[in-house]
Amino acid sequence: MKRRSVLSLALFSGFLAACGDGVPKSTFGNKLRIPPLAGYTVDPDGAKRFELSLDAGGRTEFVPGRFSETWGVNGSYLGPAVRADRGDRVRMVVTNRLPETSTLHWHGMRLPARMDGGPHQMIDPGATWTAEWTIDQPAMTGWFHPHLHEETAMHVHRGLAGLFLIGRDSWRYGVDDIPLIIQDKVFDDGEMSTSGVDSGTFGLLGETILVNGVRDPYFEVTTTLVRFRLLNASNARVYRVGFADGRAFDVIAGDAGLLERPARVDRVKISPGERVEIVVRFTPGESVVMDSRGETARSANDIEEDDFDLIKFVAAARLGESDDLPASLGGVPAVPPPAGARVRRFSLSGSEINDRDMDMTRIDEVVPAGAHEIWEIDNTTYAHNFHIHEVSFRILDIDGAPPPAYQAGPKDTVFLPKQAKARLSVQFGAHADPESPYMYHCHILRHEDKGMMGQFVIASPGTEDLVPRRIPPGHRHG
Ligand code: C2O
Ligand code: CU
Ligand code: CU
Repeated sequence: MKRRSVLSLALFSGFLAACGDGVPKSTFGNKLRIPPLAGYTVDPDGAKRFELSLDAGGRTEFVPGRFSETWGVNGSYLGPAVRADRGDRVRMVVTNRLPETSTLHWHGMRLPARMDGGPHQMIDPGATWTAEWTIDQPAMTGWFHPHLHEETAMHVHRGLAGLFLIGRDSWRYGVDDIPLIIQDKVFDDGEMSTSGVDSGTFGLLGETILVNGVRDPYFEVTTTLVRFRLLNASNARVYRVGFADGRAFDVIAGDAGLLERPARVDRVKISPGERVEIVVRFTPGESVVMDSRGETARSANDIEEDDFDLIKFVAAARLGESDDLPASLGGVPAVPPPAGARVRRFSLSGSEINDRDMDMTRIDEVVPAGAHEIWEIDNTTYAHNFHIHEVSFRILDIDGAPPPAYQAGPKDTVFLPKQAKARLSVQFGAHADPESPYMYHCHILRHEDKGMMGQFVIASPGTEDLVPRRIPPGHRHG
């Protein structure tokens, strides 16, 4: 009798293990959701006015019949896609309807530091913060997410993130221009769990993938070529994205803009915060799974070695014929750093940069407006990445070797495998403000929250030495 109940318990737990949290994996039964384009109005001064609301209390049905408590921007989970063009004046009106303070940062955007939505631009519950600037950079896939010091991981994990697209062309959003926001989650009894977000070396590492907030998604392809804008909005995971049938595809853009010409690959690596835009060819009637496959055997303390299925593409029996990709994409060629460019060195350890934790009152670096510098990032420990606000940069080399062609375009975030060293050619903008810092940090959100972040200001050339290295505590900018 006793023995039998032990046996049935074992069978039962075996069943649970096979099914994860009770839901079969990779059924690809759910239609991909495409984030809607954000609506806007035009203010009397001509600025495009976007209203974004950080909302709590969302109830999201990731698993049929099970409702998870989530946060979202103008909705229950994730946010709309903001779209604007170079030269536009944008006015982003952000209202915090959360029960706690947050911020909203425009990742990848060149703008004045007070408008950046970093840790200093706090929005109290019930308050509205307005950021405005003129878009002055090439077409790219940017994104927005909270950046509250020590709380970024939880706010993003709960669902606060959205796309910010600059530029437009002949691709049609939602038809053959499809964003894929990739996140890993833990589900507990069918509900999204927040446990683990603020603990462990990397914080939460989930076994369940959401694409655009949809679990087990499929997308119906209607054209022979589809452009996918991949955004890794995970807290820590690194993906190596490709297709189950090994097909090759073309990368056309990295984080901060188009490549000069398509780069043919069969896998792209994408770490948290990074974007990669790819163009994939489909044949009528076929189905294929986009997946992530680790490069090497799994090892402890690693975030890049797990395998996942991401989404299934189902091509219609008849596909609209797309134009061929042009040989030249119009990406901006790299400008090599000038001779004698200033070199700054940053060493990454467990969760510190140059052996220091983030201090919101300390200015770590002062950069002259318009400077073109070399930043050397030396990772002394396990995997990290490095993101710099305001700029785009080029990877000069990683461990002495030039980056693969698909990562040679403009970027704002670079992955550093364990013990790796990267050299970046960084061009700074001209929005000088000695009192308002921009951030540089690891975009593994657990690390960022633990203090793996530093602050730089842009100063008018020649005034660097006059910049105060301390910000009075409690001083709020913007
Ligand atoms: Cu995606 Cu400092 O941010
Ligand atoms: Cu950023
Ligand atoms: Cu890190």
